Amino acid sequence: MSIRSIYIFSVLAAMTAAAQNAAYPILTPAPRPAAEIHGPKAYGARPGRPFLYRIPCTGVRPIRFSAEGLPPSLKLDATTGIVSGQSPQKPGEYQITLRAANSKGKSSRAFKLVIGDTLALTPSMGWNDWYSFYHHVTDKLMRQAADTLIASGMADFGYDYVNIDDCWMVKPGPAAPEPARTPEGNIRSNRDFPDMNALTSYIHDKGLKAGLYTSPGPLTCANYEGSYQHEEADARQFAAWGFDFLKYDWCSYGKKAANSSLEELQKPYRQMGELLRNQNRDMVFNLCQYGRGDVWKWGGDVGGHSWRTTGDLGLEKDTELPGFYSIGFKNAEHFEYAKPGRWNDPDYILIGYVGNARKNDAPPQLTSLTADEQYSYMSMWALMASPLFYSGDITHLDKFTLNVLCNAEVIDVDQDMLGKQARIVRKTKEEFVLAKPLEDGSLAVGLFNLSKSPRTMEVSWADLQLSGKQRVRDLWRQKNLGVATGRHSAMVAPHGVAFVRLGR
Ligand code: GLA
Repeated sequence: MSIRSIYIFSVLAAMTAAAQNAAYPILTPAPRPAAEIHGPKAYGARPGRPFLYRIPCTGVRPIRFSAEGLPPSLKLDATTGIVSGQSPQKPGEYQITLRAANSKGKSSRAFKLVIGDTLALTPSMGWNDWYSFYHHVTDKLMRQAADTLIASGMADFGYDYVNIDDCWMVKPGPAAPEPARTPEGNIRSNRDFPDMNALTSYIHDKGLKAGLYTSPGPLTCANYEGSYQHEEADARQFAAWGFDFLKYDWCSYGKKAANSSLEELQKPYRQMGELLRNQNRDMVFNLCQYGRGDVWKWGGDVGGHSWRTTGDLGLEKDTELPGFYSIGFKNAEHFEYAKPGRWNDPDYILIGYVGNARKNDAPPQLTSLTADEQYSYMSMWALMASPLFYSGDITHLDKFTLNVLCNAEVIDVDQDMLGKQARIVRKTKEEFVLAKPLEDGSLAVGLFNLSKSPRTMEVSWADLQLSGKQRVRDLWRQKNLGVATGRHSAMVAPHGVAFVRLGR
């Protein structure tokens, strides 16, 4: 290449990069160099079970961690910030103060450990392979995902579950390379998962948790071996393998249910809920039956910690708006049912490089969502106190995607320990407004512009049941906007959001 063409090439490259940066503005400020602890302020565990928690913390490493009030059965690794051991035998609340310090500064955070029967006091966070790897998922990819959660910094914001979806088992049939179960009836993982215990140990060593998937039917949705009539053996096996989370997907169970009554809908979930509770391991239970029988009304009673409220987001058709909006609108309606340990699940966050749910062999492609739509997506999920599972290609993370996923103030809204889901303040063809009360008395408010043109949006204190002066903080930019009286208004981009916190 001549000097001149190198020059032209680099000018063009700079112009393309500039255009891209303008189209994808990074709003989240970079993490500060000083140690700063993030993550939930309340955490549930059952008594006397294996315990694992990696303190999410940004700032330059090395960081020294310490904790006050840690029960004696738990120990904290001062260098990694991983708390491990056994949860206390005695039910009750343990007030712990987590501390972190590095050469640039220090931080502390209250952490209430609640020993009892409720897990997932705040919505679970992590990564699930489904929308990027489908039936291509392997042990190696899951390990790589765990590595990347740490290396990318996502774990420092609280993303700590590494969850395998469908296709880790054997697909029964004449072409199956081996039987789906051992002669004793125990489920086997397929050749792409040679050693489940080694995999969960790998994940646990990083302070992260491991999740798994199955179906109450004979076959999973992708036609792999399900748990039908092997439920007890499977629950035992998942615990013995060291898993911390189970997604239980209805799939072929429809053919086994005696009828379509509520009791039959609940039966398999009630059964697995109880089996999981009886294992000597805390396993978060995610119900996946697409909202049948108004699952939000009873999902918690059958042992669920979260439940999908709709069909698959990745299969949702775009109408005038991208599919995540229609899923979000449906999920938003069930706000009154969400509380600590019981969350509505509108499905995964599909941004960055995402596979095609209709063409599972196609490689992941960069999302067609605009930057504003992606900020809206994440804001809506946080306001709805949704489990936050990224399901794009974690081996191909870009800066913009990370900026959407890793804004500590946005995540704090999702993880707020009051555990309320935002109520719908307004829903018209052009506007959607959500408001989520937070534990410190402030209110997180999202003004979503559904129209194709920029729009001035306004909410009054009457709409929000507020009064007096309110400080307004822009959550994406992490900037105070001043004090408002009576109303808040903002110019909102097409399909964009103004996401603020209003408080005294
Ligand atoms: C269903 C679920 C998805 C995914 C697939 C796996 O479609 O809703 O989230 O788990 O099954 O086959």
